[in-house]
Amino acid sequence: MKVLGIETSCDDTGVAIYDSEQGLLINRFASQVDIHSIYGGVVPELAARDHIRKVMPLVEDALVGSGLGRKQLDAIAYTAGPGLVGALLVGATVGRSLAFALGVPAIGVHHMEGHLLSPMLENEAPEFPFLSLLVSGGHTMLVDVHSVGEYKILGQTRDDAVGEAFDKFAKVLGLPYPGGPSIEKSAKRGDSKRFKFPSPMAGHRTLEFSFSGLKTHAMLEASKYELDDRTRNDLAYAFQEAAVEALVTKCEQALEITGHASLVVAGGVGANRFLRERLRALCDSREVKVYFPSMELCTDNGAMIAYAGYLRLQSGQHEALGYSVQPRWSLEDLPAVTIDLD
Ligand code: KG4
Ligand code: ZN
Repeated sequence: MKVLGIETSCDDTGVAIYDSEQGLLINRFASQVDIHSIYGGVVPELAARDHIRKVMPLVEDALVGSGLGRKQLDAIAYTAGPGLVGALLVGATVGRSLAFALGVPAIGVHHMEGHLLSPMLENEAPEFPFLSLLVSGGHTMLVDVHSVGEYKILGQTRDDAVGEAFDKFAKVLGLPYPGGPSIEKSAKRGDSKRFKFPSPMAGHRTLEFSFSGLKTHAMLEASKYELDDRTRNDLAYAFQEAAVEALVTKCEQALEITGHASLVVAGGVGANRFLRERLRALCDSREVKVYFPSMELCTDNGAMIAYAGYLRLQSGQHEALGYSVQPRWSLEDLPAVTIDLD
């Protein structure tokens, strides 16, 4: 089965083709960073308009790149939520229409399920069950992944997503968007001792996260200084350290509670080297195997949508002729899937 996957939930247009025999055939991607960078964050209407411009050329590009004709596609998977409603509607409308025109089934995929299952596309795939840490500009959550469709959210953020907090604090520091990589770069030259920010939720016996308090604390601290390069780097260091500490502490608690032997990290913040080092150290000390998907599969992409769509189609699910998107949609509301992964 060859499934075309379309991802347009936020600011990246992703199109990919997954083949059940050969694996991932192609994974194409267009970033909107240049459009949103002057605003320091994603502008929903501009995101939707750019998806309209990019999605069909990317579909064509993916077909040409994989050497397939449209008629060789067996199904279309598109992200149906959660995400920005206008952006989601672009991918859903294109996906559903394309499937209708080709006379093949269509399936609306949960964006977070795509992230959770994306490590299965790697050569070294984790085995179920595992603990997943999803960290991006839109989400921060710990999920107990038992099998396809069987997810328990152990904790998520009460306010800002961790990537969002990185982006907002970077803006205050006058660093370029997206803020995560900018803060990481700046923090590398920072003095680890000059500032200490409290790690959010550290003392709480809950697996929930909160980043708005850290963001406000960091902003107040920054407002006390002339922001020269040295102070900027030192503040970036303290912010990154406190944010990463919060993620690592909750992962440790979640590993303790679940007893899982594998931790999978997904989402754009998973690219952060400081976070990777800290998680590696934690997992080594507990004899837990840690998986960091490649950057291509870590950030928003069409491949994860094609793959999750394939698994659900294989179990007999597909959409009726109408379609809808769900800007808010819990992972726990997904139906379980019975499939044989071998
Ligand atoms: O998964 P992603 O590409 O898109 C979604 O938000 O769904 O994640 C983007 C987020 C942004 O907030 C960005 O600042 C953050 O991931 N990010 C990082 C790093 N690279 C990207 N945060 C911290 N350190 C990084 N190296
Ligand atoms: Zn995402």
